Amino acid sequence: MLPDMGLLDGKVVIVTGAGRGIGRGEALECAAQGAAVVVAEFDPATGKTVADEIAAAGGRAVAVAGDVADAEVANGLVETAVREFGRLDALVNNAGILRDKTLAKMTDEDWDAVVRVHLRGHFLPTRAAVQHWKAEGKPGHVVHTASTSGLLGNFGQSNYGAAKAGIAAFSTIVAMEGARGGITSNAIAPTALTAMTLDLMPQEYKDQRDAALERGEFDFFAPENVAPLVAFLCSDASAHISGKVFGVQGDSIEIFQPFTSVAEVTNGGKRWDPEDIGGRIDELWTASGIQAGAENMMARMRYKILG
Ligand SMILES: NC(=O)c1ccc[n+]([C@@H]2O[C@H](COP(=O)([O-])OP(=O)(O)OC[C@H]3O[C@@H](n4cnc5c(N)ncnc54)[C@H](O)[C@@H]3O)[C@@H](O)[C@H]2O)c1
Repeated sequence: MLPDMGLLDGKVVIVTGAGRGIGRGEALECAAQGAAVVVAEFDPATGKTVADEIAAAGGRAVAVAGDVADAEVANGLVETAVREFGRLDALVNNAGILRDKTLAKMTDEDWDAVVRVHLRGHFLPTRAAVQHWKAEGKPGHVVHTASTSGLLGNFGQSNYGAAKAGIAAFSTIVAMEGARGGITSNAIAPTALTAMTLDLMPQEYKDQRDAALERGEFDFFAPENVAPLVAFLCSDASAHISGKVFGVQGDSIEIFQPFTSVAEVTNGGKRWDPEDIGGRIDELWTASGIQAGAENMMARMRYKILG
């Protein structure tokens, strides 16, 4: 049953890729917080199941089947929100896919499919929502789904990481452009065990997790753990927060430092001679602690997968 008072009472939220995994958790949480939800999902069966689940719990939801990287589908999501529920307050861009390969083995299709679903699949619904809010003179909230693969880099995911870093940049710019109209835009980099990530996790981690669950301990990697932050970012309680990138998993919410310059060498007011750079560039590593060679940036993550 739904609580009497929620963070999103009377609001309308679109969640893309909401048929399973993290998106399903976000749709259910937004509904539990009082929102009517447009469940946007490529797979008609799972999308309908989630909408039915929300209705069975006393909430309001409508499922829209289709590819969110298709302009007609993306524009239709906003139209559906307004037609079915009379308004739109927030958009959660979550739909995504993987096609992991090292670069030398990556096909054009592997690249295009991932970039299309993530970047175009974020751009089109966001443009439709922002156009709607600007036309109505109303504020709104957008939550985008980036990834540590994009923020830090991850072996075998040059297509996915490039798209996810692009999403973080896209979100920051949407935030700047939306500030005057009260439109917020934030990105999350979640971690959860879902159909997308189950095969990537080593068996020993899965065994540890099963053992923890048997002991009745908190399921750190449950996809539903991502949803509370997203529901908050969809609400007016977060109206002062925009252009930020949050890490979110388990009971943890992190803030990522934006890309920023941390050290500099200068050449006394003259253009550099390439031959001189080799003798000076080490000053950058010394001053910053950054390594010269390729680094496993995932090692910089604050939490470690299952200890
Ligand atoms: N699970 C993680 O640890 C993790 C980590 C970082 C980022 N993410 C991101 O979180 C998001 C959700 O991932 P998940 O783990 O829940 O994956 P998932 O595969 O369980 O769910 C993704 C959902 O999106 C849908 N979808 C895919 N392409 C679509 C499209 N073009 N149009 C509409 N729906 C589409 C799928 O049908 C599926 O229901 C993705 O953007 C993913 O890249 C996940």
